[in-house]
Amino acid sequence: AGAALPVNLRDLRDEAWRRLDPAHRDYFTGGAGDERTLRANETAFDAYRLLPRVLRGGGERDLRTPLLGGTLSMPVLVSPTAFHRLAHPDGEVGCARAVAGADTVLVLSMAATTPVEAVAAAMDAADRPGRLWFQLYPQPDLGFTESLVRRVEAAGCRALVVTVDSPVLGRRERDLRNGFLDLPPGLGCENMRDPETGRIRDIVLDADLDWPRIDWLRGVTRLPVVLKGILHPADARLAVAHGVDAVWVSNHGGRQLDGAATAVDALPSVVDAVGDRVPVLLDGGIRRGTDVLTALALGATAVGVGRPVLWGLAARGEPGVRQVLDLLRADLGQAMTLAGAVRPADLGPDLLNRMPR
Ligand code: FNR
Repeated sequence: AGAALPVNLRDLRDEAWRRLDPAHRDYFTGGAGDERTLRANETAFDAYRLLPRVLRGGGERDLRTPLLGGTLSMPVLVSPTAFHRLAHPDGEVGCARAVAGADTVLVLSMAATTPVEAVAAAMDAADRPGRLWFQLYPQPDLGFTESLVRRVEAAGCRALVVTVDSPVLGRRERDLRNGFLDLPPGLGCENMRDPETGRIRDIVLDADLDWPRIDWLRGVTRLPVVLKGILHPADARLAVAHGVDAVWVSNHGGRQLDGAATAVDALPSVVDAVGDRVPVLLDGGIRRGTDVLTALALGATAVGVGRPVLWGLAARGEPGVRQVLDLLRADLGQAMTLAGAVRPADLGPDLLNRMPR
């Protein structure tokens, strides 16, 4: 197994599942509680049907997407996911090389198993500096949080993605059953090293996190700040009022609040609340070019992929991640051609036949 070219992302998922230790597979795959939200993330896209336009010509598709000061080669970026070296020895560096090759953005998880400097060096070596953002769980220890922000700024990260859907860890029953609590020896969250002691700190999920802390963070850094994990339109409005640079609609891949709405169902009212003041990103359940097309038609500027990247990485390392991104790009280009759209900007709600609700 493994030599055949994967035809879609699920081929890589199946390959990854055969390779992974079952407890690690469950960690990468699973969600919280009964996994209702996890399942719904993928099926929510099934509810949409498209109304393609015909006879529009237009030639080559142009997928380029301006976002927070850079231009991505397509409206797809890589969502932050923990523990890449648990999936494959290529780890975050392999992922970064693949993302650089595809010329999009990697959001490095705070729970990465590789220091941010090494990941940034891989991006630089591929001549794609600026394609790295950093995901942050602000720590109650403000001094440490600030030192980490300085560290990721110095490494060359171009945005901070603050994950706001995790005041506590979701109840992930597969992990409880498997007793999967921590990384095996030799792997650690390298960006949590204490600058004074060199010891790796535990990531604290902070139930006291609030809007004043977002204001504090904006005062500490000039990097664009993105809030990831917004579902409620009132929070989207608050985010804009607090001066954030983008809103990222997400339910954390169904791993936090089970029963939470899917991102694609929450998207229209968030887009409505935000207007064109800041870009709206989305992740959760993106597996096909048509899923990307649907999210963009509903007003997202770009989408993230989480698990598919882990499947590619676990199955084949760096080339597997590249295949995931190339497959999505080709699938999106074809779907746009069939729908009569040349650029992402051509995609609007008129292309959707059915609005579920
Ligand atoms: C995640 N996600 C996540 N999000 C985050 O902000 N910080 C993190 O460290 C992680 N870690 C993580 C690990 C694993 C194994 C998964 C599957 C997910 C959530 C991630 O960024 C994203 O929101 C979802 O994965 C998107 O859904 P899909 O694409 O996996 O369906």
